[in-house]
Amino acid sequence: MIVAIDGPSGTGKSSTSKAVASALGLSYLDTGAQYRAITWWMLTNDVPVSDAEAVAAASGRPEIVSGTDPAAPAISVDGVDASGPIRTQEVTAAVSAVSAVPEVRTRITELQRSIAADAAGGIVVEGRDIGTTVLPDADLKVFLTASPEARASRRSGELKGKEAGDVSATREALIKRDAADSSRKTSPLKKADDAVEVDTTELSLEQVVECVVTLVESAASAKEQREGQAPAAGTANEKAGQISK
Ligand code: DC
Repeated sequence: MIVAIDGPSGTGKSSTSKAVASALGLSYLDTGAQYRAITWWMLTNDVPVSDAEAVAAASGRPEIVSGTDPAAPAISVDGVDASGPIRTQEVTAAVSAVSAVPEVRTRITELQRSIAADAAGGIVVEGRDIGTTVLPDADLKVFLTASPEARASRRSGELKGKEAGDVSATREALIKRDAADSSRKTSPLKKADDAVEVDTTELSLEQVVECVVTLVESAASAKEQREGQAPAAGTANEKAGQISK
């Protein structure tokens, strides 16, 4: 079961994806964290993040490892835990530029596909281009939206201390980052044609989770029915093997 959850920031994507994965016993992958991790590496290695050629040339160097436990999402870069540093304002301000570089996207997309392929029991993958580009054959695609006001107030609530700033500054920063993520040439933030859109503006986290869990369950039973009607070659061979024993 592969579930793609896309949408801009502040729509409740991470909290929803983790809660849905935990409720259904699925793995979880935060692809935004991977783009943040490569951005953090660029910043700490003095790669000028506004120079796309320099970023492209360095994009193969960091080793990024993502954990897939929804209860304890982990990310490391070159063996160093990066879960704290990737959430700083400095990384947030630079991540759109780094993630727009095609070489970065190719590298991170390959990593995402291999993690999804290895997740035996199924996985919830959250990001911006999962349903459109990374996993276009996902069993369920969800696109979360919310008004800019709701998104800004949720983001401000998540940020702590001096990083929180005021809601209107957060709103401006969000709008700027969404515009950059939606207008980039390679794999922009976009709803897949076959994604289910859920507007979370007026919903609590519990309501969004309940809605997505229901969507996953119906996608799972539709998949089971399809596969029951048309057994895969492997299944037929296994049956033949059992009969001949
Ligand atoms: O979800 P987030 O805010 O942590 O994501 C950080 C940035 O990473 C976001 O501004 C755009 C980029 N991103 C992307 O380009 N593609 C993804 N699948 C996920 C995130």
